[in-house]
Amino acid sequence: MRAHPDSSTYPIEAIRSDFPILRTTMRGKPLVYLDNGATALKPQVVVDAEVDYLTRISANIHRGVYQLSEEATLRFDEARETVKQFVGGSDGEIVFTKSATEASNLVAFSWGRKLLRAGDEIVTTELEHHANLIPWQQTAAATGAVLRFPPLDEAGRVTAEAVESVLTARTRVVAITGMSNVTGFMPDIRRIADAAHNAGAVLVVDGAQMVSHHPVDVTELDCDFLFFSGHKMCGPTGVGALYGRRSLLEDMDPLIYGGDIIVRVSRESATFKGIPDRFESGTPNVGGVIGFGAAVRYLQSIGMAEIAAHEGELLRYAYRRIRELPEITVYGPAATGEAPASAGGIISFNVGDIHSHDVGAVLDGEGIAVRTGFHCAQPLMRFFGVPGTVRASFYLYNTAADVDRLVDALAEVRRIFS
Ligand code: ALA
Repeated sequence: MRAHPDSSTYPIEAIRSDFPILRTTMRGKPLVYLDNGATALKPQVVVDAEVDYLTRISANIHRGVYQLSEEATLRFDEARETVKQFVGGSDGEIVFTKSATEASNLVAFSWGRKLLRAGDEIVTTELEHHANLIPWQQTAAATGAVLRFPPLDEAGRVTAEAVESVLTARTRVVAITGMSNVTGFMPDIRRIADAAHNAGAVLVVDGAQMVSHHPVDVTELDCDFLFFSGHKMCGPTGVGALYGRRSLLEDMDPLIYGGDIIVRVSRESATFKGIPDRFESGTPNVGGVIGFGAAVRYLQSIGMAEIAAHEGELLRYAYRRIRELPEITVYGPAATGEAPASAGGIISFNVGDIHSHDVGAVLDGEGIAVRTGFHCAQPLMRFFGVPGTVRASFYLYNTAADVDRLVDALAEVRRIFS
């Protein structure tokens, strides 16, 4: 194992030069951006793709018989093809949404509310981002279905066995994250898929973190639904995607009704297009989708396996450095020792009993951006018994020097609050 991530052959300097914002300063200091779990920075190629659409094309999709509209449609469709190649699936199985959250709601409402019955069981976990929990709570309340939670171990991990322990003949859906946005823990989705399918349940995977940081193939994972967001993978905000197995999508009704999804409309009723069009009513974020496609091609040009390996080395280095500091409590898999292979590039911690927002404010003064608070995951905070944590989350452009800056700033936090 290399001692220091920057010593690898990974083209870190070339990658960093692709991100204009990394040349800026914050609070008078060079930016250290460690809030990639919230959103990723954008490389110039993504900015260029969106600007090109706005300046040169600008037209709506699917509506015009003129050249600009045709080009907008072509570029939009190309982006869908790119995303499809990135995660797998076949024609019709990639739906664009405005966010991962909207994609999750689409599944919970258009699939869950339509098909679940009173007494059916929804298995989800305390690890979930609220976006993969609240839609299922609402679906349970509307249908009379029951939520069931597998036990977490002391490090906040959920094993395939734990999921199996709560599966019953009534389980209709297992909705689980592919990578915790708080701890980086990655459940064994492939084994959970087998367990869910053996129980006759559908597997929904929140891929918002996993798809941005690890190679993902829906056929290998054998998931039925996978949702993720463009902006967490270097694309623009306002765009997400849902992969859905064709047979399931075909059973689902639109979530949002209006233009661009219809075959025929009378005064009293309407009929709808096939998949994925029936889920994309209204003018989409055309430039955003085109930018999303550019972001995916950018990540592909580096390689998701290479990005994951880089983050893994960075994470091990961060674990080692942060755990050297006194009075640091680390949460999640890291609490058990070395960063395990089953964790993505996220480390959550607290400094003594200093509130995470206070820690974040001092780090901000040092030009370091982290997320603090409960990370849209209150059940997991309750499990750990804390109101919030400081979260440093890494991506392809972060360096060991970023970790060193973080560790130095944490020493400053202790000095200020001691
Ligand atoms: N889901 C994003 C995060 O975890 C916003 O920070």
